[in-house]
Amino acid sequence: MNRRALVTGGAGFIGSHVVDRLLAEGHEVLVVDNLSTGRLSNLESASRHPQFTFLHADITSTESVDAVEQFRPDVVFHLAAQADVRVSVANPVFDATVNIIGSLRVIEAAVKGGAQRIVAAASGGTLYGEVDPSDLPISESMPWQPLAPYGISKKVMIDYLRSAQAIYGIETTSLALGNVFGPRQDPHGEAGVIAIFFQHYQAATTPTVFGTGDQTRDFIYVEDVVSAFLAASERTGTGALFNIGTGIETSVRDLVNYMNRITRSEVEPVRAPARAGELDRSVLDITAASHQLHWSPRVGIEEGLIRTWQWFQQVNG
Ligand SMILES: NC(=O)c1ccc[n+]([C@@H]2O[C@H](COP(=O)([O-])OP(=O)(O)OC[C@H]3O[C@@H](n4cnc5c(N)ncnc54)[C@H](O)[C@@H]3O)[C@@H](O)[C@H]2O)c1
Repeated sequence: MNRRALVTGGAGFIGSHVVDRLLAEGHEVLVVDNLSTGRLSNLESASRHPQFTFLHADITSTESVDAVEQFRPDVVFHLAAQADVRVSVANPVFDATVNIIGSLRVIEAAVKGGAQRIVAAASGGTLYGEVDPSDLPISESMPWQPLAPYGISKKVMIDYLRSAQAIYGIETTSLALGNVFGPRQDPHGEAGVIAIFFQHYQAATTPTVFGTGDQTRDFIYVEDVVSAFLAASERTGTGALFNIGTGIETSVRDLVNYMNRITRSEVEPVRAPARAGELDRSVLDITAASHQLHWSPRVGIEEGLIRTWQWFQQVNG
């Protein structure tokens, strides 16, 4: 069934891939994005599509609420966010304004526009905080103990989504994403070690590894994340949170080995002291998503890295 979909943050890395998939599947799409970190070039092919509309607006504004109300979406994909942990530490009021007040505006707009469902991006890397290694992989039932303001604002967003479901009956689902990578990720951002490293490989400069390189993350390819958003949007939302990762731990050291193999180079990163507040190990238990959303990741880390490197070469080559 064709649906009308609002994608907040649709000019961003993950959001633009969600947009492309929705259009390919025949849905009508409205993107609301203030282009603070997103780029119109991410929507180059989408913008040629007759079912696509772009609104350059801030999700905290009443202008965007009015536009969404008029659009009358069936489903809302909420990805617009202040997504930089270090910005959240430097300016927690700004972080809360975008991630909490902005999310409240998106909920208001979705309710006024008569949407049935909201699927929102939360963060598996920051929601749970540092967990005991014996509790890995992290399941959704682990305590939510975010340390950074970014993790806190995203946690509050989940609480407000649940509240909206209870009060207004709008269905909500939150996806706690692992470390997402793939084409269009901004190599100049603070996160996205893969994009940052590939940028160095391309420029023949040396990447820096903070800490031992043994720190692990759950790296997931962006197309698999898109599939999770679509799967969640097709099922009744119950206010639940689902981890979206691979369940596989990859160390930064492993990453460099993969990247050296793929790019046929022998890069030896520079070492720097570990950054304060960085998690040592992180990997998500994805059993709930696989059972309840009937979703599982399909692109392995090596295949994902090959595709990402190909994109880097096409765009910046
Ligand atoms: N990339 C990851 O590994 C990762 C991991 C966990 C969660 N997430 C979440 O996924 C979502 C998308 O992240 P991304 O990596 O694509 O980041 P991104 O920065 O590429 O995308 C965010 C988009 O939101 C837009 N935006 C920001 N503030 C806005 C505002 N006030 N009004 C309207 N638009 C605004 C930006 O311009 C950008 O296009 C975010 O909610 C992020 O917190 C990402």
